[in-house]
Amino acid sequence: MSLPLVSETAVDEAASTEPKHPRRWAITPPVDLENAVEFTKGQPFEAFAQMRENAPVMWFPQQYGAGFWALTRYSDVRAVDLDTQRFSSQAGGILMSYAPPERRHPLLHRASLDAMINLDKPWHMPLRREHMPFFTPAYIAELRKKVENKVSDLLDRLEEKGPVVDLVEDFSAELPLFTLCEMLGVPEADRPKFIEWMHFLETAGYTLQREELGEVDPEDINRFLSEVQAMFEYGQAILKERRADPKDDLLSAIANAKVDGELLSDEYLDGSWLLIVFAGNDTTRNSISGTMRLLTEFPGEREKLIDDPGLIPNMVHEAIRMVSPVMYMRRTCLEDTEIGGQMIGEGEKVLMYYGAANRDPAVFADPDSFDVTRANAKDHLAFGIGPHVCLGQRVANMQLEAAYRQILQRFPQARWTGRQEIAPNNFVHAISKLEVDLRG
Ligand code: HEM
Repeated sequence: MSLPLVSETAVDEAASTEPKHPRRWAITPPVDLENAVEFTKGQPFEAFAQMRENAPVMWFPQQYGAGFWALTRYSDVRAVDLDTQRFSSQAGGILMSYAPPERRHPLLHRASLDAMINLDKPWHMPLRREHMPFFTPAYIAELRKKVENKVSDLLDRLEEKGPVVDLVEDFSAELPLFTLCEMLGVPEADRPKFIEWMHFLETAGYTLQREELGEVDPEDINRFLSEVQAMFEYGQAILKERRADPKDDLLSAIANAKVDGELLSDEYLDGSWLLIVFAGNDTTRNSISGTMRLLTEFPGEREKLIDDPGLIPNMVHEAIRMVSPVMYMRRTCLEDTEIGGQMIGEGEKVLMYYGAANRDPAVFADPDSFDVTRANAKDHLAFGIGPHVCLGQRVANMQLEAAYRQILQRFPQARWTGRQEIAPNNFVHAISKLEVDLRG
């Protein structure tokens, strides 16, 4: 049997202003979780703290999509992510909402649903398994050497450009792109295109929303549409090539993956391409930039790392805990279930706010402080937990470690100047510019 097309089977979004069961905590949401522009100021950690304290399972009635329960406690996020029996990815997809048909980009919509991240048992694991050889410790140890060389080259270039640089453009965007393309087997000449595609993907939801309101220049829309088209066409062509002529790379693994004896349909090739390109690039890029902000805001912690570079691996866990670049994942509840004292109705949506869980004082003492010696830093949930736990977590940790070992050695005083730009996106914390002075 072929993989089910989630884009055709997922339950439609019905706007619901009231949940089925009475709300245990009724507060006015302290932040408009639906409004991407709100997130250009950074993640709303203060609002998350208020929610955790006053309404840890908070009903949020969306204007443009189904209302949902927002979880901000560590224990509730963990419980839902682990309970794949009752909380489905497949029944409704993992994003806060999906645009109505008249506002969709058809291919982008389909591909964002027909991918393993949206599959449940029994489909999810066989497809995930096909990717696994490229995420083992042995494979990553080999990859690490190439990543270390790339870090060194990028820092040489940064030094030439400096002393004041945009860390995103000159470093954070380049390193994950290099790493992912090495894993995928993308030829070097084709790699710069990815950076443009990332930019358009990060703002896709916002662009389509503004288009409907007539707020976007048609030129910009045309550019957006042609970049998205080019990204899929590139993926389709290279995956077909690898199907005909497999190599030892992740693209060939995806192109030749079989589930129940069948090769992936075109829909799943597009979806797997979109998932890996987005998940592999964007998240790590934002973690690298976010770490520089933390090192600037907590200079005492930077000193500890300079004195004892052996602390860097733990610093990486701590930085990812605090940055939490993926803000949430959504699930659909399959049967009436109690979570954290609140009854959730069958069919209702639940959003697990990872950044909020990662600053839950019940688990992380003094949670807003960056503490490179924090004993339980690696218990963070920024990579999720359970069967869908981030496949690339070791790759991400390795890149951050390789980057900061060299950055702290070569530019020990490098400092964020306070200038940054954050893209309007309420799904990933997307730092699009970060000005850094290499001299400190
Ligand atoms: C700091 C960097 C990263 C963060 C914070 C992150 C976060 C996440 C999260 C929260 C999930 C969903 C987990 C869940 O539902 O329980 C996920 C899934 C995934 N991530 Fe990452 N990710 C990162 C880097 C990467 C990298 C570098 C790659 C690939 C090279 C990658 C590939 C994936 C894939 C393929 C999935 C889907 C797994 C599945 O559904 O089985 N991620 N990631």
